[in-house]
Amino acid sequence: MTSIMARPVLPLGRRIMGSRSSRAMLNTASYGPPGFGSAGMTIPPGFNAKAAQQLRAVVPRVNPEKTPQPQPHQQQQPPRDNAHNSALGKTMPPGYKAQVAQLGVFEIPEQVTGSAGDKALGKALVKSWRQEGIIQIAMSDQHRRLMESAMAASRRFFAKPPAEKAACVDSQSYAGYIASGEEVTDGIADYSEIFTITKDLDLAEPRVRARWPCHGPCPWPDVDMKTPMVAYNDVLGAEGEKLLRLVEYGLDVAPGELTRYTRDGWHHTRVLRFPPRNGTNGRGKEGRGIGSHTDYGLFVISAQDDVGGLFIRRPKDDERFANWEKSAAGLREDDDGWVYVPPVDGVHTVILGDMMQYLTRNYLIATPHKVGLNTRERFAFAYFHEPSFQAVLKPLDTGCCSVPTSESSSSDKKVVDEGIHYGTHFTRMFMRNYPDRVTTKRLLAEDRLRLLERPELRTMGAVPAL
Ligand SMILES: [Fe+2]
Repeated sequence: MTSIMARPVLPLGRRIMGSRSSRAMLNTASYGPPGFGSAGMTIPPGFNAKAAQQLRAVVPRVNPEKTPQPQPHQQQQPPRDNAHNSALGKTMPPGYKAQVAQLGVFEIPEQVTGSAGDKALGKALVKSWRQEGIIQIAMSDQHRRLMESAMAASRRFFAKPPAEKAACVDSQSYAGYIASGEEVTDGIADYSEIFTITKDLDLAEPRVRARWPCHGPCPWPDVDMKTPMVAYNDVLGAEGEKLLRLVEYGLDVAPGELTRYTRDGWHHTRVLRFPPRNGTNGRGKEGRGIGSHTDYGLFVISAQDDVGGLFIRRPKDDERFANWEKSAAGLREDDDGWVYVPPVDGVHTVILGDMMQYLTRNYLIATPHKVGLNTRERFAFAYFHEPSFQAVLKPLDTGCCSVPTSESSSSDKKVVDEGIHYGTHFTRMFMRNYPDRVTTKRLLAEDRLRLLERPELRTMGAVPAL
């Protein structure tokens, strides 16, 4: 096995540095004491992620192979760096009670070649998701540059007059603008203001002409928005594909078992703005940005600014939210057990979605998450790495996924036998989130849902019969 050296750069992480093409990091996350950063905590004026960054420290080299790794579901170690923990927790939105995650940072290699280092990294990623429900990966210089450019475009877009933003809607795709209060989670309006980017298909494209659900143009406001967003999405797409290949190694399944689904993947992005908690339009629940839910695809790569607002739930044996069986929206929203994910400069976070849970027979669990409103407006990106719209997914039955880890979901034998058609799953999720959108109304008025049953919509690479 390739020798792997460790060079940690975060207080609680262990970074594994191999050759440049085989860099990885095994991380150990810890949490602050329960209730840390509890109700009433506010953000000091001027606080930003730099404060957390200043606490980074280089610690002695660690040989990860000789260092005991926490087992999934193992009790977390107590915090080892209270100063760091305390600084990260100060960005938590007021009124929320949660532990504070302190996550290490994985470095994803420039190329995934199937080396011993790649396999070790894949196993470490899977282990970390099973333990924490979320991982952090380092942005490359190119990622950071494109993310900052996209973030600037996002700020310019959301600062436009409401009528200008509202015009960015398409009746055939779910791409475009979603006003604060328009999205609904568990029957309650969310305060998030969103620009969704889906596959940008013009009206002459065969799938659009054939009226396939959700297929249509992306109603960009201008090239000032489009150019940086497309560039950022493209690099995230490449990063997502590398991650998926690493997950295959981590699960001990053959190369291609997951990536065969992402040819012409239905990848999409949500560009997000959250108003400050005292600057909402009163349509939603006080202090709530987005209600608890799981995401619907394979995984989500996210970037956030330095404000803070994301909360997740760690995998628990008695919590198996399965959106494809029953809506996970609103579940456990007000319960204890949430973990705050503070902003960390220079990283993307990655959480898992419903389709990864389904494919792995619960070996990897979709991560429930929610967003709280903070004292300042907050900007974020969520890039969804997805199967093809036409893919019919079947649970894996090799490697780590050969035995179901829970009977509480995937229990519907029909669903397991027939598989899940991703396009139908996606369409249902968006119809549920946007019941009043023109796209939903047109879908129903033109009876497009029946098209989802056609063989060409359930065969990857098939083209519509026009
Ligand atoms: Fe989400």
